[in-house]
Amino acid sequence: MRKTIIALAIATGIGFTAKAQYKAVTKTPPMGWMSWFPFIDKIDEQKIMEVADAMVKSGLRDAGYKLLQLDDGWMAAERDAEGRQYANTTRFPHGMKYLADYVHARGLKIGIYSSNGMKTCAGYPGSYGHEEKDAQTYAARGIDYLKYDACGEKEKHTDRELHTRMSKALQATGRPIMFEICIFSSGATHLWGAEIADMWRTGGDIVKFIERTPEVTYKNWYNNLQQVVGKENYAGNGHWNDPDNLIVDYPRNNKQTYEEQKAQFSLWAIVSAPLILGNDVRDMSAATKAILMNKEIIAVDQDAATKPGTRVLSDDKREIWVKQLKDGSKAVVLFNKEDTDATLTLNFKDIGAAKK
Ligand code: GLA
Repeated sequence: MRKTIIALAIATGIGFTAKAQYKAVTKTPPMGWMSWFPFIDKIDEQKIMEVADAMVKSGLRDAGYKLLQLDDGWMAAERDAEGRQYANTTRFPHGMKYLADYVHARGLKIGIYSSNGMKTCAGYPGSYGHEEKDAQTYAARGIDYLKYDACGEKEKHTDRELHTRMSKALQATGRPIMFEICIFSSGATHLWGAEIADMWRTGGDIVKFIERTPEVTYKNWYNNLQQVVGKENYAGNGHWNDPDNLIVDYPRNNKQTYEEQKAQFSLWAIVSAPLILGNDVRDMSAATKAILMNKEIIAVDQDAATKPGTRVLSDDKREIWVKQLKDGSKAVVLFNKEDTDATLTLNFKDIGAAKK
């Protein structure tokens, strides 16, 4: 059946290069939760405060999930009299600073969302032409992370140009704000992502039409995994390929088996993906927690060598992935792609760990 086995092997090797210019906020891939998959744009203050509490109570925060990110839908339809984006007052009656304080008081960081065009992907006001004002506003409200999309009209400007504008505006605030960029047009963001951001999406959404997707299967994440293959040398040391969020315990039409959900978690860890949860953490089974708080897998993702793993073997039936760890050992994922159980053999030569 489709599942992974993750193992450690002793050896050294695998070089990596990463040209980084954006001042990375953390060395290892960010871990946290995002509102888009569980709630789409139906977010409000009450729900987000409950999520913050749940992240503490469930043990997620202490397992490393420190970021709580509000995705699209938090903002009012217009800007205020001073041209600032502000939170929808019906759904966020106390405003964003209040929420940031609430989240910070629980030992968490707060993230927010905008787009480089005039509108966000869900049709809310984007940051086009307001980059400096928005960056300053986020900093003043205590925001720690910005996910920046590429939707909306942007006249003749390229996404790279506009993302760079926001990157500079964030750096100019003096507040360390993690910066995630989305771009779907080129598939080549990894070539320059580290120059302007902490992390960049390597592909589209794992679940695209959230309300119209009749079933979510392992294929959703497997497709996105393919889009990081070959990009590992562009990431590391505070800058990350982002194949999109985890869909472990995905709350809508989730047709993945338990083993397939474990497989996503293991593979996201081996490629050093940001571990960003896409479930409703207010209501998690023990089985879900066992995946998401597996200490050894998290340690592979967060390893201090900060070298993303690489796929060393792939055929119709299986894949082998290997990641160099700081202590000289290698983490290995054996991924059985078939529906049925299979015996997978790891040849130490394939992971560069054979004795001479
Ligand atoms: C895009 C992004 C998603 C989400 C939505 C919000 O589709 O890729 O992750 O942020 O926009 O509208």
